[in-house]
Amino acid sequence: MTDTQSEQAIIDGRPGAGAALLTTLREDGARRAKSRDVRNLSNLLPFMMAHWAYGVGAFFFLVISVGATLGVTGAAKSVVDEGFLAGGDAQLNWAFIGLGAVALTLAVSTAFRFYFITRLGERVVADVRKALYSHILTLDPAFFLKTRTGEVLSRMTTDITLIETLVSSSISIALRNAFMLVGATIMLAHVSWKLTLFVMLLGPLVILPMFIIGRRVRKLSTQAQDSFAEAVGYAGESLDALETVQAFGREKYATNRFGAAVEYAFGRSMARIHARATMTLLVMSLIFGGVTLILWVGARAVVAGDMTAGTLLQFVILSVMAASSVGMLGETWGDVQKASGAMQRISELLASEPNIAAPALPVVLPEPSRGEVSFENVTFAYPGRPDLPALKGLTLNVKPGETVALVGPSGAGKSTVFRLLLRFYDPQSGTIRLDGVDLKQADPGAVRRRLALVAQDSSLFSGSAMDNIRFGREEATDAEILAAAAQAEAHGFISALPEGYASAVGERAKTLSGGQKQRLAIARALVREAPILLLDEATSALDAENERLVQKALDEAMDGRTTLVIAHRLATVLRADRIVVMDDGRVVEEGTHEQLVAKGGLYAKLAGLQFAANAA
Ligand SMILES: Nc1ncnc2c1ncn2[C@@H]1O[C@H](COP(=O)(O)OP(=O)(O)OP(=O)(O)O)[C@@H](O)[C@H]1O
Ligand SMILES: [Mg+2]
Repeated sequence: MTDTQSEQAIIDGRPGAGAALLTTLREDGARRAKSRDVRNLSNLLPFMMAHWAYGVGAFFFLVISVGATLGVTGAAKSVVDEGFLAGGDAQLNWAFIGLGAVALTLAVSTAFRFYFITRLGERVVADVRKALYSHILTLDPAFFLKTRTGEVLSRMTTDITLIETLVSSSISIALRNAFMLVGATIMLAHVSWKLTLFVMLLGPLVILPMFIIGRRVRKLSTQAQDSFAEAVGYAGESLDALETVQAFGREKYATNRFGAAVEYAFGRSMARIHARATMTLLVMSLIFGGVTLILWVGARAVVAGDMTAGTLLQFVILSVMAASSVGMLGETWGDVQKASGAMQRISELLASEPNIAAPALPVVLPEPSRGEVSFENVTFAYPGRPDLPALKGLTLNVKPGETVALVGPSGAGKSTVFRLLLRFYDPQSGTIRLDGVDLKQADPGAVRRRLALVAQDSSLFSGSAMDNIRFGREEATDAEILAAAAQAEAHGFISALPEGYASAVGERAKTLSGGQKQRLAIARALVREAPILLLDEATSALDAENERLVQKALDEAMDGRTTLVIAHRLATVLRADRIVVMDDGRVVEEGTHEQLVAKGGLYAKLAGLQFAANAA
């Protein structure tokens, strides 16, 4: 499967299991882009400062636990020197009491450090998640035309998990190891500066090859995972379409293609295994060689009486601690860069300003609403297609209480009229007014409160039938919801569901038929009790009988409301006060059904085709 194919499948809204799998694999944390510029992480500070007390707590216990860890080495030294070698019973007891006390301090402070730092991490992540989601909800559709929903979701999930790793573990690991390194080095120098100098010369010799080979191993393992992801993605896609593969007799081709991808992944893995084996050989020889060398030099010093046995033990433990700190710091650096890349993407999202926002001093819409809509010479092109306007100088006036039908060929710009009225976009030129107020000067929230929409492909949500209708107006009572459902001819089928109104309808209401979904969407719009009703192909999925019933209910609802109806089936718009015919982003004709038929223009042609077909 090529990237473009799978991405196209996702854009088309038919993500096959294979395509979905590939996306999941590709957007896995390990493959999100890193950033070397760790300044991105400063955007995390406000979130962390909000819970500074946890940070201070964590820091406090971190310092104690590092102190205790280093202290253990001192205690070990006294156990050997004062206990074993000096031989006194009481001294031995005291040395062990000291060791026990230091170990206990270490245990307690480590537990508290873990508690505070993890709690801080979880809290910060929860806050970032909430801030991100509520910010995303304010963005307008134009944003989602340029950013894939999948990418936005990755930022909310994978990227935030990277931040979580950073805050609740990497930062603390890094700080602990930095302190350890500094502390251990100071103590080393204190214990024996000669040996320390020796270790410092030896250190880079051990660490450098580890870094170089380690980087190569990581790169190879990402490559192996990538090519394996590719193979699995292809397997998934061909399994999704197994019937197609078999119908065309392409099993052999698919096997070869999958086989080649698997072999490639195997090759990459082999390279990684070689590098890893070499690294193990090198690292172990170097580390043990180094330790042996220090022990040798140290042991000679002990024999010569320059140093006690306990001091040598302490020295060896300290140098192992210092070396492992350097190693851990190297490991966490990768996490820091990953988190920095993640924070860059998250901040970019948080910083993206909606194009549509309320002005500082929004003009208040007149109360009560008159239900008056006007489009004045409106020209509008979608952000992705600046050269192909969807509306070209459209002028349309809808009087209070009027029912206006918008008809016209597919792509004429009918749904676009609704989108502009809902102010999902602003036109490039011309003015749109609601109750006499220019939409650009009003608060979009206030504008939308006056509109009830039944969209062409109405989205419903997981939850009960009741929840879905109440989505129209949060404060609606159960009785109002039942009434709206009855009006939308939805009461019958909802009552027949296993748990009636409480029945879960599934994600995107996928357990309902197309016509049932439409009636639920109509009930949702009716319960809103908004002065202006926008119906975009609201009854297109209904059979003739149900459409007649719903139409009757809608006629009642349209009484005393301004209504804009879009319909392809002209039979549904016959009763409109006025029919506006659109073509190619313009109004080309308007009038009643009879007037338009008599005129013999585009409408007469459309009507002729439809009613002739019906008559036949
Ligand atoms: N998000 C978008 N980005 C770019 N172009 C768009 C977008 N949505 C619609 N268009 C284009 O704008 C034009 C008008 O679309 P619109 O949805 O208003 O048509 P319509 O009259 O409602 O058609 P239909 O009857 O098929 O629903 C079409 O050419 C369409 O391709
Ligand atoms: Mg449409």
